[in-house]
Amino acid sequence: MTVLGIDIGGSGIKGAPVDVGRGMLADERLRIATPQPSRPEAVARVVAEIAQHFAWQGAIGCTFPAVIKHGIAFSAANVDRAWIGTDGERLLEEATQCPVRLINDADAAGLAEMRFGAGRRRKGVVIILTLGTGIGSAVFTDGQLVPNTEFGHMEVRGKDAEHRASDLVRKDKELRWKKWAGRINEFLARMEALFSPDLFIIGGGVSKKHEKFFPHLQARADILPAELRNEAGIIGAALAAGELAGRERRV
Ligand code: BGC
Repeated sequence: MTVLGIDIGGSGIKGAPVDVGRGMLADERLRIATPQPSRPEAVARVVAEIAQHFAWQGAIGCTFPAVIKHGIAFSAANVDRAWIGTDGERLLEEATQCPVRLINDADAAGLAEMRFGAGRRRKGVVIILTLGTGIGSAVFTDGQLVPNTEFGHMEVRGKDAEHRASDLVRKDKELRWKKWAGRINEFLARMEALFSPDLFIIGGGVSKKHEKFFPHLQARADILPAELRNEAGIIGAALAAGELAGRERRV
């Protein structure tokens, strides 16, 4: 089965049809810059453009960097605040004329990693962290997602963890890998104190450079780099929408 996966981020919106049985892109992905400001209608137009590019007529899964409950955005940390309270699923269904499932970006990446990547066959408590502009989190217990955790906003030294340890902060402050890893370690220690996970999976674009900072990471739990890298969001979004396939859009 093929589902269109779209990953909506602060700087780019990327999409590709995904073979959900194999967890692989079924076509070359298309990336369009995120409109600025990233207001809901402007983003919806880009999502529709991506669907049109693939002449898409089936289910679509979309990630979004915010708390998403029943299709509605409840937060907007790195995107336009007009998203708060917006029924994103409905908006994107109207724009694309397809059934749409909207899911938090880190939750989507986590679904993909648990099914096809570093979390395959891992039981117990697994925490996936995506280090990018912000820090996203996804928690699994025996393979089951606990959606909408927002560990990037956990306070460390009086600041949101993502304002100390995201990849954006590393770049902006020109932190050395070891120093940045120290900040990640503080964050991991805080999560260990509260959740005692068995495994941390570290994702986000920077995970492809894992050999630079993994040697400095420390935790009681195992720590693994994500395997699906930049494609985890697209694949996870498609997985989340798989159950919509064959269903009519709601509006
Ligand atoms: C948002 C999360 C999101 C993460 C990664 C955070 O600022 O609050 O919802 O998953 O960034 O994009």
